[in-house]
Amino acid sequence: MQVPNYEEARIRSRQEVLVKSFNLDKDYEKIGLGKKFFIKTYGCQMNEHDSENIKGMLKAMSFTESLTMEKADFIILNTCSIRENAHNKAFGMLGRIKHLKEKRPELVVALCGCMAQEVGVIEEILKKYRFVNFVFGTNNLNDLPRLLTESFKDIKKTLNIEVYSKEGDIIEDMPVVRESKYKAYVNIIYGCDKFCTYCIVPYTRGGQRSRRKEDILKEVRELVKDGYQEVTLLGQNVNAYGKDLYTDYELADLLVDVSKTNIPRIRFLTSHPWDFTEKLVEVIKNHDNILNFVHLPVQSGSNRILKLMGRRYTKESYKKLYDKLRSIPNISITTDIIVGFPGETKEDFEETLELVNYCKYDSAFTFIYSPRENTPASKLPDNTSLEAKEERLYQLNELINKYSKESNLKMVGNVYEVLTEGYSTKEGMLFGYTETNKLVNFKGPTAAIGKIVKVKILEAKSFSLDGEIVE
Ligand code: SAH
Ligand code: SF4
Ligand code: F3S
Repeated sequence: MQVPNYEEARIRSRQEVLVKSFNLDKDYEKIGLGKKFFIKTYGCQMNEHDSENIKGMLKAMSFTESLTMEKADFIILNTCSIRENAHNKAFGMLGRIKHLKEKRPELVVALCGCMAQEVGVIEEILKKYRFVNFVFGTNNLNDLPRLLTESFKDIKKTLNIEVYSKEGDIIEDMPVVRESKYKAYVNIIYGCDKFCTYCIVPYTRGGQRSRRKEDILKEVRELVKDGYQEVTLLGQNVNAYGKDLYTDYELADLLVDVSKTNIPRIRFLTSHPWDFTEKLVEVIKNHDNILNFVHLPVQSGSNRILKLMGRRYTKESYKKLYDKLRSIPNISITTDIIVGFPGETKEDFEETLELVNYCKYDSAFTFIYSPRENTPASKLPDNTSLEAKEERLYQLNELINKYSKESNLKMVGNVYEVLTEGYSTKEGMLFGYTETNKLVNFKGPTAAIGKIVKVKILEAKSFSLDGEIVE
């Protein structure tokens, strides 16, 4: 039993991070023969990609996937801690699984992901959810085959918790089953060292560790060989890429090298305004396959709140960077905003609205502040009522939607390249995304799926576009 510990999770030891190669023990290869697994994933792209690796490991162990819980021999929840409602969903799911387990005691149940790294969550599992077979953390994904084998061999074994708070080694060559045949996630940096005061990620994902450039480039080259059209380079803070590993190689350099692989489309997520260099702006401008799309979370338009959040920039410096990016023709810029941070006044909130009026974002994710266990912001006094916060969120969303619609309207009548991903939920239509990450539903032949095609935009909605294929 190894439980998480926040003291350890805070330490950024600067010890050398080891790079290891994934190896599946021969004894584990047949464990899943004739057995099915069900996986439920919550949270961000990082978690989605972890689930692709989990599926890869399970496939290597001879499991097949079940799309329903009821038919599965193994159920795994890959959880998210970012806000309270993510928690509630996962605990609600555990409640449903408990009933299944009562009927079928041989069912194996596991929990992993960010919630596994939380001290309070582990205490609750130990108290109320002892039917879970095992828990592992974000830093030891590669322990899954061993833990799962132990559970199948001895189903009566009591709840086993193996969660390490210190960041793990980097494991290369993890097996993977990707969701898409056309676009792929590629991790470039793990963890986060920023410690924004509201955010739990630096505790759940550990210290910042960049992957070696040669490993990233090898992965992208293989994706090109397999016919992939798009890669998204992933990290909690991709702009910090390389800082822990190189003295003269940063995200901008990595993007140039990835660009040379000739993959048609490159995105990167998520950028922190603090580490966004001039060189990076130039690289986006000068490379056709580095898409004109930047997600640049601002969080608040009030300098007082930004300071309390520990964001390390001001609204003035953010605007300066924003203007530089906007000067790139046809760029799309999106953001994240939190309302109701502890102590946020009406005036602070109005400054956020002002900033949105200035930036006219192409779209944005907006959230009501959610206090997270052990974070500094959760200890700040907060006198704003939930009603007032909900009202602010509503007002903000109205404004965000207005600018999204405006940016979509500007596209009507023009032709854009769209990577076709499959059939749309709208009957008889296909769907895909533009270079600027706008969702388009359009009429076109099935043969377009998996290809980058030219689509004329006919109509703009708030959250999507309708069009028809022209080439
Ligand atoms: N590493 C990325 C993404 C972090 S999570 C970044 O720093 O941009 C995605 C978004 O969730 C954040 O940008 C923030 O807007 C929101 N978020 C994070 N912690 C939150 C909290 N405690 N309450 C509400 N929203 C939060
Ligand atoms: Fe992703 Fe953050 Fe959720 Fe972890 S807490 S899964 S990093 S969104
Ligand atoms: Fe890191 Fe982003 Fe939080 S940069 S501290 S995860 S908001």
